[in-house]
Amino acid sequence: MWAAAEQTPFSHLAGSEFPIKNLKLPKSFGYGAATAAYQIEGASTQDGKGKSIWDTFSHLEPSRTNGENADITCDHYNHMEEDVQLMKSLGIETYRLSISWSRIIPLGGRDDPVNEAGIAFYNRLIDTLLEHSITPSVTLYHWDVPEGLYSKYKAFLNTKEFRADFERYARLCFTRFGDRVKSWVTFNEPYIISIFGHLNGSLAPGHCAEVGTETATEPWLVGHTLILSHASVVQMYAREFQPSQNGKISIVLNGHFYEPYDETKQTDIDAVQVRLEFYVGWFGDPIYLGKDYPAVMKEYLGARLPSFTPDDLDLLKVTCPINGFYGMNHYSTKFVRQLMDLPAKDDWTRNIEESSTNSKGEEIGPASSMPWLRLAPSGFRKMMNWIWDRYHLPIIITENGCPCPGEADIKIATDDHFRQRYLGLYLDAISQAIYEDGIEVQGYYVWSLMDNFEWSSGFGPRYGIVHVDFQTLKRTPKGSAYYLQETFQARRNDQ
Ligand code: NOJ
Repeated sequence: MWAAAEQTPFSHLAGSEFPIKNLKLPKSFGYGAATAAYQIEGASTQDGKGKSIWDTFSHLEPSRTNGENADITCDHYNHMEEDVQLMKSLGIETYRLSISWSRIIPLGGRDDPVNEAGIAFYNRLIDTLLEHSITPSVTLYHWDVPEGLYSKYKAFLNTKEFRADFERYARLCFTRFGDRVKSWVTFNEPYIISIFGHLNGSLAPGHCAEVGTETATEPWLVGHTLILSHASVVQMYAREFQPSQNGKISIVLNGHFYEPYDETKQTDIDAVQVRLEFYVGWFGDPIYLGKDYPAVMKEYLGARLPSFTPDDLDLLKVTCPINGFYGMNHYSTKFVRQLMDLPAKDDWTRNIEESSTNSKGEEIGPASSMPWLRLAPSGFRKMMNWIWDRYHLPIIITENGCPCPGEADIKIATDDHFRQRYLGLYLDAISQAIYEDGIEVQGYYVWSLMDNFEWSSGFGPRYGIVHVDFQTLKRTPKGSAYYLQETFQARRNDQ
């Protein structure tokens, strides 16, 4: 891998100091690790938990999840104390977790009973974190909608019903946990929920729309539901809870950065902007600016894109300034081009094609064990600039990390040079964004605390800074866990 990496035109990366030390970051800059309930908790039927769409999806169609499921996964539900102690021992200061909706309201609906055993688990987790001086940041929804709501009304496809049920669930969480949780995220990656769940079908609930046809309305309706549900919950939090609880709330958006496939072609240069509008502007403009969808989306999608009513726009305008930060998940950069001469295979982006290689055959950066996930820190810095220029909100990096090949083998995992290099260069990009570009970046969560169930790829890719043996459930920190610990420790001592 290193040899290949060093042959690329991006070989300046290969020559950089390794591991990268003495990173300049503000003293107040937070260091955290992130996980999600379905990916780590296991205990899928324990203590009254209800089913989510991921329980159904992974069991009904195991071939869509590498033949695996997360019934047990890391069994974090039964290893919670050990995991918190591990975080403490690794110098982690803040922990981004998600709540499993169907663990606390097994059927999910606004009139359905609450499962006190599920509430008790999250209370124990939050208390244990605080006892170890680790700050919790809670995501309400990380892809596991209760199956009950999906079978009743297809979840996000019914905006009115979903919104009401999500409000009740959120109110329950603010009421029961908000005295101690001061950082909230409504939805994780609405783009992925919409496109991967309801267009290409690779994630639950696995809907495949016939792309490029008038019937492909689902992803845009799902996005609409998520934006309005977010805004309602932000308004509710601001009115009913913020005055006494004094916390922050926002959403987490994902997005690759893009470079033109052929930098001499105007259509490829334009494709970069179109791609970012669809990726980030889709959600960012209504949520963070209180505006309608980006013009290019309206132009390309026509009647397939739902419209905001005047009341919706009022709600978005009132709630946009309440969002306390821009939650940014970022992993990689790609090249993008417009295939003008080929028949449109997917007209929602006017036949835009993404790749990791450009017209000159150059790679965007060395590959991790996921072919699309490349070490390309300059794209990360450009993405922070794009977001800052457009939304001008403090940014928190809510996820960043990579899987490395061969890491089921613990010897390879503990010596994870590629990850250490990736993390060091991405942190360095943050340092440059702060000190050279003047962007307010407040903190960083590595994805992920530990190896876990990677959705449609099952247990294949391992993103953890802690190795998990899925037979014995033993946790072993990788080199990168110590690298991050030392880096952030040095930051604290230095200034
Ligand atoms: C983003 C998602 O939020 C997370 O669940 C996933 O595991 C990582 N990306 C890596 O693909």
